[in-house]
Amino acid sequence: MNSMRKRRDGGTGLLLGVVLSLVLAGCGGSESGDGAGQTAEAPPHPGEQTYNRYCFSCHAAGVAGAPKVGDPESWAPRIAKGPAALLQTTIAGIAPGMPARGLCSSCSDDQLAEAIDFMILRSQ
Ligand code: HEC
Repeated sequence: MNSMRKRRDGGTGLLLGVVLSLVLAGCGGSESGDGAGQTAEAPPHPGEQTYNRYCFSCHAAGVAGAPKVGDPESWAPRIAKGPAALLQTTIAGIAPGMPARGLCSSCSDDQLAEAIDFMILRSQ
């Protein structure tokens, strides 16, 4: 009897480990899975959340001439300015289409820079 209990306990621990790793893998997959062409293993980009909340509405479809995420041609001349210049224009906005801070008044400069980086990575 004693040895059976021991075996069962060992089995439960193993099962718990398997379930945990499945749950963890499942979470990662659903978070990045709705993005375009990302694999489940890729860790989420720090700028992805900001982009999805504030920048997506214009930059996913290219509203009002916004450089469209996923379209290297519309991003190439922007990328050429360098990340510092892009951060400056994002903070100030570009009249009339691009609002100051991309409408995220609560975003820090770092968060904006991460969102820009995320957009660029998706558009090369
Ligand atoms: C209301 C629509 C709108 C939203 C929201 C928006 N953008 Fe834009 N964005 C534009 C438009 C339009 C342009 C093109 C402006 C132009 O060049 O005339 C643009 C241009 C840019 C550029 C290129 C700047 C340059 O110097 O060429 C960057 C970078 C950018 N947006 C980042 C962001 C980020 C980051 C966010 C979210 C935090 C965001 N945008 C949210 C409309 C938007």
